[in-house]
Amino acid sequence: MSDLFATRDWTATDCPGGSREQASAWEAPKDSTLVDYWQFFSSFLRNPASVGALVPSSVSLAREVIAGCDLENAEVVVELGPGTGVITREILRRINPKATFLALELDATNAAKLQRRHDGVRIYNESAEHIRRCLNRQGRKRADYIISALPWGNMGCKLQDRILRSVFGTLSEQGKFTTFAYVHTRWLPTAHHFRQRLRKHFAEIATSKVVWKNLPPAFVYRCS
Ligand SMILES: C[S@@+](CC[C@H](N)C(=O)[O-])C[C@H]1O[C@@H](n2cnc3c(N)ncnc32)[C@H](O)[C@@H]1O
Repeated sequence: MSDLFATRDWTATDCPGGSREQASAWEAPKDSTLVDYWQFFSSFLRNPASVGALVPSSVSLAREVIAGCDLENAEVVVELGPGTGVITREILRRINPKATFLALELDATNAAKLQRRHDGVRIYNESAEHIRRCLNRQGRKRADYIISALPWGNMGCKLQDRILRSVFGTLSEQGKFTTFAYVHTRWLPTAHHFRQRLRKHFAEIATSKVVWKNLPPAFVYRCS
């Protein structure tokens, strides 16, 4: 049995083939425009491994990612890998206007376009390894929430470790780390390495049901 299954009680509908109805109902991100699709796909062509998907996340996945995050009362929120901004929009809908919100995006084109779209938010064209220096530029040291859309399964273990060190080093004591993983990558050695690291560093790890309305289907890790 994969150790992913050991983290919670999985039901038949969580497993591939468990629910045809859910599996067939892929949902396009409603807020994404055709331009967003093209922009996202272009970034995939530039760097397939680091983008990790052909199209932006669905609104269903974006909502599952932030479900359980008390964003209204958070002072500092960091997003990793915002891409064309599907999750960013959901965060901005919920966050306290006085909170500090910043995002780190490796793709320069996506970072610049997202910055133009949300001029009140700071989007850094930086790797997620550098959360601390981005927080410091905003006069902050720690984050209450770090919300990630990074494609962990596609990353080498060393890069995963560097990014996770950056996360552990900047999350406040009561802080929460939320991220998603694609179902099809769960048997990769890199996905196994990622789960081991989460278990080593977090007291509690919950996994969501699979969000079938996403291409590719994904599930969320909530770590505290
Ligand atoms: C799977 S896409 C998710 C994009 C968007 N958040 C969404 O849900 O549609 C992964 C994003 O992470 C970015 N990324 C990959 N590696 C990164 C890194 N080391 N630091 C910051 N961003 C990174 C990619 O450029 C891409 O925009």
